[in-house]
Amino acid sequence: MTTTRGLEGVVATTSSVSSIIDDTLTYAGYNIDDLAENASFEEVVYLLWHRKLPTKDQLAEIKKELAENAEIPQEVVDHFKSYDLKSVHPMAALRTAVSLLGLFDSEADVMDPEANYRKAIRLQAKLPTIVSAFARIRKGLEPIKPKSDASLAANFLYTLTGEEPSSVAVEAFNKALVLHADHELNASTFTARVCVATLSDVYSGVTAAIGALKGPLHGGANEAVMKMLKEIGDVDNVESYVHEKFARKEKIMGFGHRVYRQGDPRAKHLKEMSEKLTNLTGEPKWFEISTKIEEVVTSEKSIPPNVDFYSASMYHSLGIDHDLFTPIFAVSRVSGWLAHILEQYENNRLIRPRADYTGPDMQKYVPIEQRG
Ligand code: SDX
Repeated sequence: MTTTRGLEGVVATTSSVSSIIDDTLTYAGYNIDDLAENASFEEVVYLLWHRKLPTKDQLAEIKKELAENAEIPQEVVDHFKSYDLKSVHPMAALRTAVSLLGLFDSEADVMDPEANYRKAIRLQAKLPTIVSAFARIRKGLEPIKPKSDASLAANFLYTLTGEEPSSVAVEAFNKALVLHADHELNASTFTARVCVATLSDVYSGVTAAIGALKGPLHGGANEAVMKMLKEIGDVDNVESYVHEKFARKEKIMGFGHRVYRQGDPRAKHLKEMSEKLTNLTGEPKWFEISTKIEEVVTSEKSIPPNVDFYSASMYHSLGIDHDLFTPIFAVSRVSGWLAHILEQYENNRLIRPRADYTGPDMQKYVPIEQRG
């Protein structure tokens, strides 16, 4: 048997949701550059789930459905309130809360396509509310009810802070949501597909995916980038910091990608927004440190930044707590997970690869009294 470490280059399924071809990312055939400049996140959700852009009526309908389903059960709020949340990572809280949500959905195990679509709406609508409720409860604040007439981007920022977000903040956050929505067969999406290919339910698939996204080699990298920027602290420290990392053979967070060779097409949009927002908040140093890191890493190792690099300074400029960066990734990526879960159900076959065994040769059982 031949093995490919990390399944590099292995094509594990067909999919019509998104594609990466020659470093160009498309959602159902639409270039990400075009969508980042023009689309609302709700349009992208519709696009990923239906493989076509919505008409005005269809967009109004999905927005209404998302708004109507944005509130979370009191039990989830009570659950958060029943713990000392100071040492709980929000990704662990989100993973648990999504699993808990499944207990309050009477359709959780109803497997027909219409019921699965309704669950997709509920999950997409509720994830932002879970994240903002958690963020408030751990600060001793009450969760805020989402508005029925606000976009998902605006509602998230509003329910997080309790204040009306500026149009610049909403525009930037919407763009970040659009850029993170789907990404072919990344680790968390693959996890979701493997899970539901056993014909397990949608809640299990999304819970599993959140677990995969949490790791620092995947979605957890954006929080790690902000930690690095703070550790560096000043643009003059960048070179020595990066050189020390290289000397210790450690990874620079927010750089590299399994698929892209020339660079991640999403990074330039996030870089632009990072520059704009760090200037607006009067903290350009986070952008300056970031660009200097990019200069040093790319000139010495030719490894370009990925989606997680400039999103860190951008989210920081929106006043978002650093450990919420990865949950925000989930708020967007759940749209892609759900598209892939629904696609998996449509043409399902169990995903069950093989392992090349490297353990001991055939052994004979030795009774415990005779073991040395
Ligand atoms: C995401 O796949 C997706 O679609 C994911 C994602 C999405 O939208 O879902 O795009 C989101 O997860 C982005 C990636 C976030 N992770 C990080 O930023 C962590 C830092 N990056 C790396 O650990 C790494 O680049 C990965 C995990 C992203 C990719 O890992 P691979 O494909 O297994 O590559 P590798 O670790 O085997 O590296 C190949 C070479 C090595 O050098 P050599 O041993 O061959 O000399 O490149 C070097 C690595 O050392 N390298 C890095 C590096 N990334 C790769 N060296 C320093 N810093 C880095 N960040």
